[in-house]
Amino acid sequence: MPSLDLPPHFRFGVATSAFQIEGGWNADGKGPSIWDTFGHTSGKVKDDVPGDVACDSYHRHRDDIALMNALGLDTYRLSMSWPRLLPEGTGRVNPAGVAYYDQVIDDLLSADIQPNVTLYHWDLPQALEDRGGWPNRDVAEWYAEYAALVFDRFGDRVNRWATLNEPIAIWAGYGEGFFAPGRRDAADGRQAMHNALRAHGRGVQAFRAAGSPGEIGIVLDIWKRHPKTDSPADIALANAGDDDGFRFFFDALLGGGYSDRIRARLEADGTMPEIADGDQALISEPFDYLGLNVYSRVVVDSEKNDGTKWAQSDPFPGGNFLDNGQEYYPRAVFDALELVRDDYGWSGPIHITENGMTDGPASAADPLDDDERIRYVRGFLEWISEGIRAGHDVRSYYLWSLMDNYEWSAGFSAKFGIAAVDPATLDRIPKKSALWYRDLIAAHRATR
Ligand code: NOJ
Repeated sequence: MPSLDLPPHFRFGVATSAFQIEGGWNADGKGPSIWDTFGHTSGKVKDDVPGDVACDSYHRHRDDIALMNALGLDTYRLSMSWPRLLPEGTGRVNPAGVAYYDQVIDDLLSADIQPNVTLYHWDLPQALEDRGGWPNRDVAEWYAEYAALVFDRFGDRVNRWATLNEPIAIWAGYGEGFFAPGRRDAADGRQAMHNALRAHGRGVQAFRAAGSPGEIGIVLDIWKRHPKTDSPADIALANAGDDDGFRFFFDALLGGGYSDRIRARLEADGTMPEIADGDQALISEPFDYLGLNVYSRVVVDSEKNDGTKWAQSDPFPGGNFLDNGQEYYPRAVFDALELVRDDYGWSGPIHITENGMTDGPASAADPLDDDERIRYVRGFLEWISEGIRAGHDVRSYYLWSLMDNYEWSAGFSAKFGIAAVDPATLDRIPKKSALWYRDLIAAHRATR
């Protein structure tokens, strides 16, 4: 196990996203997002619970900031809700939405917590879905309009931006249908992924055009597939999973275009997106830092593949599993750092923009007693330390998440927080891991 030894310039934060915490789904002129519609449709989300209230951060962001302040956090990764700012997705601006994010940003800065803002964390305005959503090539221009608004209103006070969070979720929404908007068409799904990359490029251009200080990047997740055996079938499955899961994005952003392997498979499937002249140059627009979300790896077993899910092998001998069933594999973060350098030549700044775990069944007895989360986070921080010793420029770590929140199709059943949220009062109650994280940050601060 590598030692935990992070340099003085390293920074600590937590991450959330607008839809997962804000609630206020139709408050003060906000338009609906695709996740509002999805959550209001029976059978889409566990227990049919919509995200209407979530953690009610739209009305309680001061509670969130008070908690972050008590923990001594350096930085907070949040996202903005596109339909809160532009209820129809384009055109008319909602002044109450602008006022809300003005207040959140100002309150964070007053508490000496640096905001790190993601523009798109999965909550597309429903009005834009009604115009075709992500598969419509026009989405890149809709996004550029939204981005320009955000940089104009908030660009003076936020020094780190991300265009998109985990665009693979767009595939889940259009190609497979288990995320909003619940469409299931592989060709649309691939076009939607391609358009998301174009939107990213337009976002970077809007940022440069605005002349805002600070930096812009993108947040991608890496769940590296490891073949269970060295059989050709397992290796092919691992490669296909990596291609779909993250190489599609990395190849286009940093590798000059989709690889021959990806192209061959999309051609064979009949799901090759329309790629117009200029698309690749747009997607290759240089950005300033890479945000990586890393939770674990996936060991794939071709005998369990159902054709869609790149099936995780059952718990295998020698594996180390968390109470929630996920493999505990903290080396995944080190492997991700090596991968982006070795396969994509990335040597720029990196922020670990998400890492965390859900409580397992055992924590039902005492939800605040989450020793396993402490071990998990510590293990990842040790492997980040190892990555920095190996020369990777990792500058910060964001624990997912500040508090238990709305976990998409899983509703409130998956609890990732270092604080619990009392269902009756919505009070935020720190778990043991929050206090541990506070002490770790304080010890690090003493070295600065
Ligand atoms: C990925 C997503 O960015 C976030 O929204 C989600 O809640 C966490 N990881 C946990 O699944």
